[in-house]
Amino acid sequence: MTDNPLRAGDGNERVAPPAVLVIFGSTGDLAHRKLLPALYNLLVDGLLPSSFAIAAVGRRAETDDDVRAQARQSVANFSRRRLDEDRWRRFAAMLRYVQMQLDAPDDYARLAQFLAALDVECGTRGNRLFYLSVPPSLFPVIVERLGDAGLAREHDNFVRIIVEKPFGHDLASAVTLNEQIHRVFAERQVFRIDHYLGKETVQNLLVLRFGNGILEPIWNRRYVDHCQITVAETLGIGSRAAYYEEAGALRDMVANHMMQLVSLVGMEPPVDLHADSVRDEKVKLLRSIEPIGPAQFATVVRGQYTAGWLGGQPVPGYREEPGVAPTSTTETYFAVRLTIDNWRWAGVPFYLRHGKRLPKRVTEIAIQFKQPPRQFFQTPGEEPAPNVLVLRIQPDEGISLRLVAKQPGPAIRLQNVTLDFLYRTAFDVEPPEAYERLLLDCLLGDSTLFARRDEIETMWRIYDAVLARQHDDPALAIHPYPAGSWGPAAADALIAADGRAWRRP
Ligand code: BG6
Repeated sequence: MTDNPLRAGDGNERVAPPAVLVIFGSTGDLAHRKLLPALYNLLVDGLLPSSFAIAAVGRRAETDDDVRAQARQSVANFSRRRLDEDRWRRFAAMLRYVQMQLDAPDDYARLAQFLAALDVECGTRGNRLFYLSVPPSLFPVIVERLGDAGLAREHDNFVRIIVEKPFGHDLASAVTLNEQIHRVFAERQVFRIDHYLGKETVQNLLVLRFGNGILEPIWNRRYVDHCQITVAETLGIGSRAAYYEEAGALRDMVANHMMQLVSLVGMEPPVDLHADSVRDEKVKLLRSIEPIGPAQFATVVRGQYTAGWLGGQPVPGYREEPGVAPTSTTETYFAVRLTIDNWRWAGVPFYLRHGKRLPKRVTEIAIQFKQPPRQFFQTPGEEPAPNVLVLRIQPDEGISLRLVAKQPGPAIRLQNVTLDFLYRTAFDVEPPEAYERLLLDCLLGDSTLFARRDEIETMWRIYDAVLARQHDDPALAIHPYPAGSWGPAAADALIAADGRAWRRP
């Protein structure tokens, strides 16, 4: 048996060890929509041991039963599987509530006693996972108090900490946060979550690239013309104005989730599949990306949606959303051309775009290949388009390859066709949710799918100058786009300047 998720065959070999999962921020949206349903599904799949407990931490005076009732709602509303009474009872028995103030040292001493008592009652052997699902301003104090209370120490048990994004808001703050965490936890204890790495199709990228013989030889500057990565969302910012006004599209999606995709598409083959071998290669790739300084600001387009139509309904503009400043210059769209300065990718641009309130929800990676050196077929019919390999991350997960074919008949007439592979039809199973996979890996101590310290800092370094200047440099001014459109015209101009065009997924 192996403990590496990328080499493991049958997921059921990977049952988690006994442990207590302590969730700070247990009444928040993430716990409610993602964490509790994911844990329930792990239990349904037989991947949680019977010696397992969940300590939900909150500030309010509540009881275990209150927390169980709320968790039941979460599972009923958001689990990918229906709530089953038998399993629910087993799950509910694992749940406990801990009331505490997150900055009160005495409360951490009480937490330590509570966890020690749980170890005796549930057989959890001192193994602990602390999940920080709280606003980032609270990360430092929680980490420090856990350290002071002796809760970060390992003997023959394990102690791990899971940190949610945003991991800092620029390079300097990420470095400071890493230092604060490292005063208490060693890097191997720190699991920085990027939920994109938990998506099945994202993990499949490595299998596609390194498990097939035909792709790797052409996965480079000799054959690839360029790469386009699109993360389009139809949703606006909902009730998250307070967070989003500070974050914007670059911090919210591009500098983390999308850069994970870039590093998996672009990295060299790792020497093996150990966590650090894979992450070493990802960091090497990120280090090859030219940071976007003022001289490269023209390769960036920042946009913001105005009122428009989506799905036949009128929707307000970003500045009209509740909680958003009427003069806000926060971007809800971000496009960039990245230059990767290494042997594999020199001269092959990577174009990234992400936006809220675009016409369609789709995440895809498109690798466009160079055209043949001569075009023989100058006949009526479709213009022969370049070959494109599209990895569809969501929805309708799959892979397609566009080719040029001859239409049946006596004359040579061309038609662009696609070879399609769809997960839904090829495998008759429902893939687990990203958080199921990531929580399980964390319990198993496998950090392959978590961001390492240097990975985070290298990602911020690429965008640091943009973040510092984005609200006052005219080269980074906001371009409005109507909700329901594919983004500002300036983004079309960015790619058109290179003689290329965005795909219409
Ligand atoms: C989150 C962002 O990290 O990812 C959201 O904060 C975004 O703004 C979400 O909508 C997208 O995740 P997914 O899994 O729906 O693509």
